[in-house]
Amino acid sequence: MSGTSLDGIDAATIATDGERRVFTGPAMTLPYPDAFRERLRGVLGRRGAVAEVEAELTRLHAEAVAAFRVRHPDAGFDLIGFHGHTILHRPQERCTWQIGDGALLARLTRTDVIADFRSADVAAGGEGAPLAPLYHAARASALSKPVAVLNLGGVGNVTWIGAGVDEILAFDTGPGNALIDDWVRRHTDRLADLDGAFALAGCTASQAVTAFLRQPYFARRPPKSLDRDDFPNALPDGLGVADGAATLTEITAASVEAAVQHMPQPPREWLVCGGGRRNPAIMAALTRRLGVPVRSVEACGWDGDALEAQAFAYLAVRSLRGLPLSLPTTTGCPQPLTGGRLFRVTS
Ligand SMILES: Nc1ncnc2c1ncn2[C@@H]1O[C@H](COP(=O)(O)OP(=O)(O)O)[C@@H](O)[C@H]1O
Ligand SMILES: [Mg+2]
Repeated sequence: MSGTSLDGIDAATIATDGERRVFTGPAMTLPYPDAFRERLRGVLGRRGAVAEVEAELTRLHAEAVAAFRVRHPDAGFDLIGFHGHTILHRPQERCTWQIGDGALLARLTRTDVIADFRSADVAAGGEGAPLAPLYHAARASALSKPVAVLNLGGVGNVTWIGAGVDEILAFDTGPGNALIDDWVRRHTDRLADLDGAFALAGCTASQAVTAFLRQPYFARRPPKSLDRDDFPNALPDGLGVADGAATLTEITAASVEAAVQHMPQPPREWLVCGGGRRNPAIMAALTRRLGVPVRSVEACGWDGDALEAQAFAYLAVRSLRGLPLSLPTTTGCPQPLTGGRLFRVTS
């Protein structure tokens, strides 16, 4: 998995039937080299001429697989779910594009690959995102409901899981870490607001938060999804680095709070995965705004850095078995839809 934060590649193994049974194995992250991260950033939003970056991205994924095999020699696997990297997501134009060459990855890793998870959903009129919800629901079977699983990557996305069979609702909440990362990168030589240090030292510009939340996205009913850069120019000029970070952190939390209006009932608890759960300023703002327990998914024994990678392993098995990857309540597709494309190793 390569998420919109552009931080690197997450690799994880699971053993699963693609339904109820999931056994998690080891996981690791291979950060992108800085120079490649900037090349990848350079093709975001493009509609063509990305072949070189795509090949390089695929080779880096093959390196991640090789490094994983060295580090975890006992964690064998027969199938790879290869999400690729989203460079363009415009579902309303029936367009979503994850770069990554499935055939090349199969050849380099000598392993069958499922890639291109989102196209079928978008072609059928779905949002193509989020896709992790079915995995969240499979993992949440023993938890008390309703519960919300919140993934704070570059973008934020939530899976609301109710007590009934297949009672699930999912959508993108708003910005996750991407705006904070972009702000800190613009004003300092760092890539992120590590441990929320800037945000915790700053003051929130409340009017900017209120103005941000007035955008139509937040009142729009789900299904709905976002591209990384759907909220440019989020901040008024004139804020210092700490106040800007505090304000963007509050914007992330406020957009999560705005998601509750769309849920059939408020969750009893929020479980947070993705890099944003490591940011205490975000977690404090969420706790303040949501009024129910907000915990890292580690609280229920899950690995919050590996969950999205595990989800695409799970979806790869579902794809192989012809099971749905998306539901009308997760992406707005007209009926439960399978997807993904198989690239077999050719000998
Ligand atoms: N210790 C930390 N403090 C603050 N932010 C963090 C920390 N660790 C990770 N992050 C944030 O998490 C992001 C990576 O999260 P990740 O879940 O990998 O997102 P994605 O799925 O978009 O790649 C980083 O870009 C950074 O903003
Ligand atoms: Mg990441």
